[in-house]
Amino acid sequence: MKAESVKISEGVYWVGALHWNTRSFHGFAIPGTTYNCYLVFGSEKVALIDNVFSDGMIDQLNARIEDAFAKEGREVKIDVFIQNHTELDHSIGLKETIDKFSDAEVYASPKGAEFLEKQYHNYSDVEITTVKTGDVIDLGDKTLSVVSAPMLHWPDSMFVMLNEEGILFSNDAFGQHVCMSKRYAEDYDEAFILNEAKKFYANLVVLGARMLRMKLQELTDAGIVDQIKMIAPCHGQIWKDPSKIVKAYSDWATGVCEDKITIIYDTMHHSTEKLAYQIAEGVMSEGVEAKIYFMQEDWESEVVNDLLDCKAIALGAPTMMNKPFPRIGNIMYWLNCLNFKGTTSEKNALIFSSKGWGGGAVAKLQSDLESAGFTIFDTLDVTFVPDEDVLSEAFQKGVELAKSIKG
Ligand code: FEO
Repeated sequence: MKAESVKISEGVYWVGALHWNTRSFHGFAIPGTTYNCYLVFGSEKVALIDNVFSDGMIDQLNARIEDAFAKEGREVKIDVFIQNHTELDHSIGLKETIDKFSDAEVYASPKGAEFLEKQYHNYSDVEITTVKTGDVIDLGDKTLSVVSAPMLHWPDSMFVMLNEEGILFSNDAFGQHVCMSKRYAEDYDEAFILNEAKKFYANLVVLGARMLRMKLQELTDAGIVDQIKMIAPCHGQIWKDPSKIVKAYSDWATGVCEDKITIIYDTMHHSTEKLAYQIAEGVMSEGVEAKIYFMQEDWESEVVNDLLDCKAIALGAPTMMNKPFPRIGNIMYWLNCLNFKGTTSEKNALIFSSKGWGGGAVAKLQSDLESAGFTIFDTLDVTFVPDEDVLSEAFQKGVELAKSIKG
């Protein structure tokens, strides 16, 4: 097969794989993705940073590697494999490529070396040099400094910085699940790419927000942030101008929010839906942005993207068998396991529900939201179909929730 590499700097090539038609990444709705790998040509050694996912992707990687060596006019020989993270989407092809170059050196974090064996059970014969912050991998006229980055987003995660070119290879951090023809973020609409990066952060990195704040501070104090001229993640577009994505990560990790309310609901016979729509009208009447999600149709990964930087939420579900109607349960699971508590600023929550008789949804949603770190602002629990008075009440609660976040 034929597949071209892309030169991103002197002696540095993108040699990754494009996965155009994948639409779900362990439950995260995506419009395709890329598995970015990079070849770094030093005067003495050539390094491959990270690897790819599944058979078709390995063929692409191999073709792009051959193309990059041809462009450099060098015989195909990889001397150094650097594995920044071992989740399968970046490591399935690694053993095959290591076996091709049996005298190559392999570098990973201590957890990375452990995880490779535990995931693939065929690494016991591979000598892996474990590295940590401060270690330098020497390629001759190019050097790669290791930055340990545990929980950004796995315990094994690390970055490497190509000192001579100022390129930070950051693996999942700063990535986006997109698959497009051109390789740089700056080739596309900035708001679109930043939103995809936010979605990626909210769904995959948010749990490491405290570690991220510490890491950004550590890199700033060490003067490394000022030396970064390009950030090359393992998914999506490469950041030619790192300042925007570094600022965005800093904002997301410190809980900077927009004047926006996320309304999430499920409905059985449209009564709870009517409340949701009226709450949205009340929010909008105050000039506040409302985003509304119906959990029988929308992906949780899209909801989570808005939850990250909204200032308040309204959450509604009818009662069925004394509990919230089922499909709201998925988003409650995400809200709890993504641990927004302590990682973003405090958010108010309005709970709304329609019941036939006994009720029960509101109490359950309240306890779940409290345990997920939300502050209960108000509740609205109506019996059967809302009449005009109840709809006015829902509108007014939307108004009050919007007022609570203004200023
Ligand atoms: Fe893209 Fe954590 O793997």
